Amino acid sequence: MRYSDDLIEEIRMKNDIVDVISGYVKLQKKGSSYFGLCPFHNEKSPSFSVSPGKQMYYCFGCGAGGNVITFIMEYENFTFMEAVKFLADRAGVRLPELEYSREAKEQADLKATLLEINKVAASYFYYKLRQDTGRHAYEYLTGRGLTKDTIQKFGLGYSDRYSNDLYQYLKGKKYSDEILRESGLFNVDEKRGMYDKFWNRVIFPIMDVNNRVIGFGGRVMGEGKPKYLNSPETKVFDKSRNLYGLNTARTSRRKQMILCEGYMDVIAMHQAGFTNAVASLGTAFTAQQANLLKRYTDEVLLLYDSDEAGVKAALRAIPILKAAGLTSKVVNLNPYKDPDEFIKNLGSEAFQKRLDDAMNSFLFEVQVLEKQYDMSDPQSKTRFYHEVAGKLLNFPEELERNNYMEAVSRKYGVRFDNLQKLVNRLAMKGTPAQAYVRPKSGSGSKEGESGIDKAQRLMLTWLVSYPDTFRVTEPYIGPDDFTTPLYHTVADLLYEQYHQGEVNPAKLLNQFTDSEEQRKVAAVFNARIPLEGQKEMDLALTEIVGRMKKNSNAYHAAHLDPADLAGLQKTIARQKELEAFESGRIQLHISTN
Ligand code: CTP
Ligand code: MN
Repeated sequence: MRYSDDLIEEIRMKNDIVDVISGYVKLQKKGSSYFGLCPFHNEKSPSFSVSPGKQMYYCFGCGAGGNVITFIMEYENFTFMEAVKFLADRAGVRLPELEYSREAKEQADLKATLLEINKVAASYFYYKLRQDTGRHAYEYLTGRGLTKDTIQKFGLGYSDRYSNDLYQYLKGKKYSDEILRESGLFNVDEKRGMYDKFWNRVIFPIMDVNNRVIGFGGRVMGEGKPKYLNSPETKVFDKSRNLYGLNTARTSRRKQMILCEGYMDVIAMHQAGFTNAVASLGTAFTAQQANLLKRYTDEVLLLYDSDEAGVKAALRAIPILKAAGLTSKVVNLNPYKDPDEFIKNLGSEAFQKRLDDAMNSFLFEVQVLEKQYDMSDPQSKTRFYHEVAGKLLNFPEELERNNYMEAVSRKYGVRFDNLQKLVNRLAMKGTPAQAYVRPKSGSGSKEGESGIDKAQRLMLTWLVSYPDTFRVTEPYIGPDDFTTPLYHTVADLLYEQYHQGEVNPAKLLNQFTDSEEQRKVAAVFNARIPLEGQKEMDLALTEIVGRMKKNSNAYHAAHLDPADLAGLQKTIARQKELEAFESGRIQLHISTN
């Protein structure tokens, strides 16, 4: 279900990356590259670079990167195919009717239709809120302090008291029962057939970053259970990959993002001028949502409810944010329950002050921990310090760890050197530091990368930076020595290009249609090898080839079928070659001009 590689490459080549990106970002030429403010994260000095030679972009601040197709995917939040279509249009390339499989086409049509139904439903609810029969709903919203402007901005609506209202309306527009069933807007049971899910509620349409309505939340007016009803997940509504309010928040250009729990919290904050607030959708915060936030910010302020459940939710979110490369702080709203109530009672100035006073999330974790110990009992107090020391070990960098130790020692009255001794002792004992869970698809951040991954990544960087690397290393390593699946794929493609006489990273990127993968591959292609001098380069290259061989020998030995004699012989030969590398008998020489 894609266009031919040649066509995609033609479209890519007809859209000069500097031209295209200039339409979005103000670029300035410096040397052979262009620089500007990165549109994918907030920054004051330009670390976003566009290379006309490579036809790729890369941000040294947030790691966003790719070719012109990636840029459009990321900026417009398009799929690969949507971006290709967009660029084809731009360059006046006519696209043939697709080689879509029927199934793929049906899926694409289905999604488009579901989005269309959502849009129609949202306008319908919006309209109903403004009718006489919706007056009490409108008054409920204004009664909660929302202005006309806010109600309009968030596209709030009302679902009528007649339980078949929306269903009849959509049937009138000739949508089939089959598709309506998939919209999540209706309940189905044997007795009653299909009927409206939302009934006599105020409606919060949920939009994705691209302002497309993907689902709905509905609140009872006043008391009643359940307080909120939400659309179920559908083909267009993935709750773990969207955040309420992000469509607006992403353009707020604030340094931080505010993460809270509810629809009303987001709306109240936006109304009070805090347009960088978002909420997860009635579900626990996920790694995908953290990665989504990472595109727009480096720091998240957690504004969960100040009850026990809110504290728990914050404790869960902190490591998830950290794993995505985001720092976080926790905001204290006492004595109010949530941002909505706080702002209503104390106003936005007081609220801003609470944001400014937000607590570092590590210290927040320690504070919660402290409550579980009786600090007047020496033994219990000691155990508390031990636990804190264990947590401090999670900071791999000494300077950072020291800063935290200092903060803890100040706050909890333990002497710095005592705490330090404790931490060092635990480190020596090899107490397993509670490792943070990392999401499988990283955020482009290289933290936590294994040595094996790193060697392969560096090797790829060598190959694209110095084409002579192919000639020099080919007798010793090839695509099969890349054992990490993504890097293996890249290596395969790169060697193929080399053999065809043209190493072209931007073209190679066309092969990756997932933006997370593109981002990783682009990072490889845009990394720099900070070396100078023939000797230093030769040594580094020899070292990395040796490391690659070591990894791949171990990998192939572990995957060897014992009955495979030829394989066994090969393994032995590989091992000999590795020894030659390790003893320094093989020394590579690369030419870099
Ligand atoms: N929620 C839900 N279903 C419920 C209750 C809550 O999906 N039965 C979700 C909603 O997304 C809600 C969020 O959890 O916005 C937070 O819940 P809560 O704090 O109870 O609601 P508030 O946002 O404070 O709503 P309100 O101020 O209208 O009471
Ligand atoms: Mn509330």
